[in-house]
Amino acid sequence: MSSSMKRLSSLLFFVVLNHLSELATGQDEFVYSGFTGADLTLDGVATVTPNGLLELTNGSFRLRGHAFHPTPIRFGNGSSFAVSYLFAIYCADSNLCGHGMSFLVAASNNFSDTMPTQYLGLINDRNNGYATNRFFAVELDTNWNDEFRDIDNNHVGIDINGLVSVNSSSAGYYHDDGNFQNLTLASYQVMQVWVEYDGDSKKIDVSLAPIHMAKPSTPLLSTTYNLATVLTEDMIYVGFSASTGSFISRQYVLGWSLGINRPAPAIDITKLPKLPREGSKPRSKVLKILLPILTAAFVLVLGTTIILLVRRRLRYAELREDWETEFGPHRFSYKDLFHATRGFKSKNLLGVGGFGKVYKGVLPKSRVEIAVKRISHDSKQGMKEFIAEVVSIGHLQHRNLVQLHGYCRRKTELLLVYEYMSNGSLDKYLYDQDEKPTLTWAQRYKIIKGIASGLLYLHEEWEKVVLHRDIKPSNVLLDDELNGRLGDFGLARLYDHETGPQTTHVVGTIGYLAPELARTNKATPLSDVFSFGMFVLEVTCGRKPIDPTSQLMLAQWVLHNWQQGFLTDAVDTKLQGDYNVDEACLALKLGLLSSHPLVNLRPSMRQVMQYLNGDMAPPDLNPTHMSFNIISLMQNKVSIYSDNELASQ
Ligand SMILES: Nc1ncnc2c1ncn2[C@@H]1O[C@H](COP(=O)(O)OP(=O)(O)O)[C@@H](O)[C@H]1O
Ligand SMILES: *[C@@H]1O[C@H](CO)[C@@H](O)[C@H](O)[C@H]1NC(C)=O
Ligand SMILES: *[C@@H]1O[C@H](CO)[C@@H](O)[C@H](O)[C@H]1NC(C)=O
Ligand SMILES: *[C@@H]1O[C@H](CO)[C@@H](O)[C@H](O)[C@H]1NC(C)=O
Ligand SMILES: *[C@@H]1O[C@H](CO)[C@@H](O)[C@H](O)[C@H]1NC(C)=O
Ligand SMILES: *[C@@H]1O[C@H](CO)[C@@H](O)[C@H](O)[C@H]1NC(C)=O
Repeated sequence: MSSSMKRLSSLLFFVVLNHLSELATGQDEFVYSGFTGADLTLDGVATVTPNGLLELTNGSFRLRGHAFHPTPIRFGNGSSFAVSYLFAIYCADSNLCGHGMSFLVAASNNFSDTMPTQYLGLINDRNNGYATNRFFAVELDTNWNDEFRDIDNNHVGIDINGLVSVNSSSAGYYHDDGNFQNLTLASYQVMQVWVEYDGDSKKIDVSLAPIHMAKPSTPLLSTTYNLATVLTEDMIYVGFSASTGSFISRQYVLGWSLGINRPAPAIDITKLPKLPREGSKPRSKVLKILLPILTAAFVLVLGTTIILLVRRRLRYAELREDWETEFGPHRFSYKDLFHATRGFKSKNLLGVGGFGKVYKGVLPKSRVEIAVKRISHDSKQGMKEFIAEVVSIGHLQHRNLVQLHGYCRRKTELLLVYEYMSNGSLDKYLYDQDEKPTLTWAQRYKIIKGIASGLLYLHEEWEKVVLHRDIKPSNVLLDDELNGRLGDFGLARLYDHETGPQTTHVVGTIGYLAPELARTNKATPLSDVFSFGMFVLEVTCGRKPIDPTSQLMLAQWVLHNWQQGFLTDAVDTKLQGDYNVDEACLALKLGLLSSHPLVNLRPSMRQVMQYLNGDMAPPDLNPTHMSFNIISLMQNKVSIYSDNELASQ
């Protein structure tokens, strides 16, 4: 027994040794035609499957995977390299594809301090573009992300130290005659990538082509960059990184080769491992026997099916028009949404808002969790503009916004599909104490900062100004990590047409409406700031903007406390004194300043962010000189300020 064990282990030792010496033939080249027996350094969920595929992520949400060549490689100033690899990306749902993968050359193989989702396992949300990242990557990105100025949801990019690509292009290749041929990265077709760096000219070329095709003569992408300034160590690590987010994809590498100061060795395509079948398990043999019987049954059932199909057509009927084809990828089929929400069962109801009901759903193919908002509409008028707006809003991506994935349209209703927020809306935490625990001060402050950052993005960081118009705790949703995310943004056009029970003729909610809106009826970024100020006061004090019983205005009450010299008396008593006094005072003052009745005194969201981050001190407010005209706010009428009040500001 033990002698056979010994023999086995010495055999293993021999195999490993043999393998190592194969790699050692030059430290400056390697080739993998499949990864069986390769001793890759893996982390995250990356694995090598039994048949030799390198699987970077495994089809679950929000994961990372990295795989590196086991040993670092010598790379000096002036060195060149050439790499080629074969990959395939599988997406369960072609509309909603997960994040991509990248080939990576880095000074270290420790990527533990990175994040999944749009960060691709390369960076985290704080260090994009930092010189300390020291990596060069070629991203194959299957998701459109505005934060990193992506060009589309199917592109190849050259990244250095960050995810804003130095150069990028839609996936494809150039024919010899110069014509461009599109390729879809997430088509689950095997494709080959070539990455070449010339140490003399500092030129980086990237090419892409389907398997069996030679390297195109014109590269897809190129750029000039001295990688010696990025990869300053003597030794470099080469490998792959990939991530999934709210959507899943699986990224596979089938073969890989590298040459330092020489061409990349050829990969033996005949030896590549096979990709798993899309979706489900192979069919069983029993089924083959049963098939004739089933066929007979099928004929019988056919009649019934036809009847059912006709009924089904009616049931899933939706409205589609020619102009919608351009919005194709953002359109969901009613059938998918119907199944996702189990037929809009009341069990799946998440809440009822001013405009309709919101249901929880799980998309059948990709298992992505969604929230579907059903809004009734009857007018066809302006529908095209509205859908265009929905699609454009779908492009807004920020970690403090609830992502809008798309829409579906039926005869009398519109369905908006949002990212699902597992922790529901903030108002429940502030008021429904039986249902949810009280939030700690640290959690509240994080939510306030998050919402400020989301709103700043809407106001200033997107290509056009987007107004929210209805900021309040019930429109702030909390994700898994209790980050505040703004929902319901930018859809003012629809809301202008329809009116719901909780809204006034002006879009918004009483108590959060800036007083000047009643006069001008025109929302501006500063009217959003007003609502934001109310929101901050509400989160800090745990009270509604207008007390339902006493009709007392919250801002007035906070100011009163301050004038009495006890500003912190306004802080939510449910915190039982357990909070950071400086932060709470800053929040209260900022809340008052932002919800000031005089528009010109409110800060912009950029200033708000600077105050919250401590980059700048807020203006020194004197409580005795501040005043809030309660009556005009409550009745939502034109505000009149006396001249001396204006003069004192
Ligand atoms: N994306 C989402 N994820 C989870 N729950 C949601 C989502 N969107 C809305 N909800 C729930 O549905 C309720 C109603 O939503 P909504 O119609 O947006 O409210 P309102 O019109 O009051 O702003 C919310 O209070 C929240 O509990
Ligand atoms: C993927 O890996 C994670 C973490 O190891 C695991 O929790 C999950 O179940 C895996 N998913 C699949 C589909 O195998
Ligand atoms: C990787 O880096 C992190 C910090 O970024 C550090 O905590 C960890 O110890 C490192 N791991 C290894 C194996 O060096
Ligand atoms: C390639 O795709 C882009 C974007 O989807 C499209 O604009 C272009 O017309 C396509 N080109 C070809 C040759 O199909
Ligand atoms: C990006 O790559 C293309 C294709 O090689 C090239 O024509 C273009 O000049 C590059 N742009 C930059 C900014 O390097
Ligand atoms: C690389 O070498 C060139 C010339 O040989 C030199 O100008 C440059 O400073 C060197 N760069 C680094 C990072 O060593």
